[in-house]
Amino acid sequence: MPIKVVVAKDAKEMSKKAAAVIAEVVRKRPHCVLGFATGSTPEGTYAELARMNKEEGLSFARVTTFNLDEYLGLDGDHDQSYRYFMNKNLFEKIDIRLWNTFVPLGVAADPGVGCIAYEQYIKAAGGVDLWLLGIGNNGHIAFNEPGSAPDSRTRIVALDKSTIEANSRFFKSADEVPRYALSAGIGTIKEARKIVLLASGPKKANAVKAAVEGPVTIECPASLLQDHPDTTFIVDAEAASKLSGEK
Ligand code: GLP
Repeated sequence: MPIKVVVAKDAKEMSKKAAAVIAEVVRKRPHCVLGFATGSTPEGTYAELARMNKEEGLSFARVTTFNLDEYLGLDGDHDQSYRYFMNKNLFEKIDIRLWNTFVPLGVAADPGVGCIAYEQYIKAAGGVDLWLLGIGNNGHIAFNEPGSAPDSRTRIVALDKSTIEANSRFFKSADEVPRYALSAGIGTIKEARKIVLLASGPKKANAVKAAVEGPVTIECPASLLQDHPDTTFIVDAEAASKLSGEK
């Protein structure tokens, strides 16, 4: 199935559309399993889900979640860890049970073994119903950098120089950005029954075009979603600006 593309006029509309798709899954299956992402792009979607939880009674009490990735070496209370991000931006604002939320452990006795366990937790939960993704400027999904294997699983990965630079905006300097991360693999992500990828802003336009209209290649990890049966990109007009197809 080719990737479906929904173009929103701006980031706000993109976030509302994404939250509506997630809410539909939760309403149909209150005990569903959701996959989440971090980064600036999904923040608006999480704010909208928190609003729906508060104002519209959308309950996450029976939902289980798995996050894509975590920096190796950052503990959950580090303010740049992805566990911290999820707690602050979403989990503390909704009625989810924290023990049903999973983020790879950045600090563990053996983080590699933790990756294997992570895959087993996902399987034990029955697989992911919907995985929300962002996209890196270089086409990465989670921390699957260009060159990642299409059947890769959760593992320790080295970050690209361009990703370290892009993510240095959250740290005091690029030197402080961890060089390694734990990341769900492309094979892990593609087992989700439904995938929704968000992209916003002009910096993402090349990656979106390569992913949707380019060849399926490990050079653009998001292009490997082209043969997934149910993937939708919800992008704003700027991120869609280089697409040549119908918009
Ligand atoms: C990080 C994350 C990705 C995310 C990407 C884009 O590298 N590991 O999961 O999609 O950044 O982030 P942003 O949404 O801030 O552009």
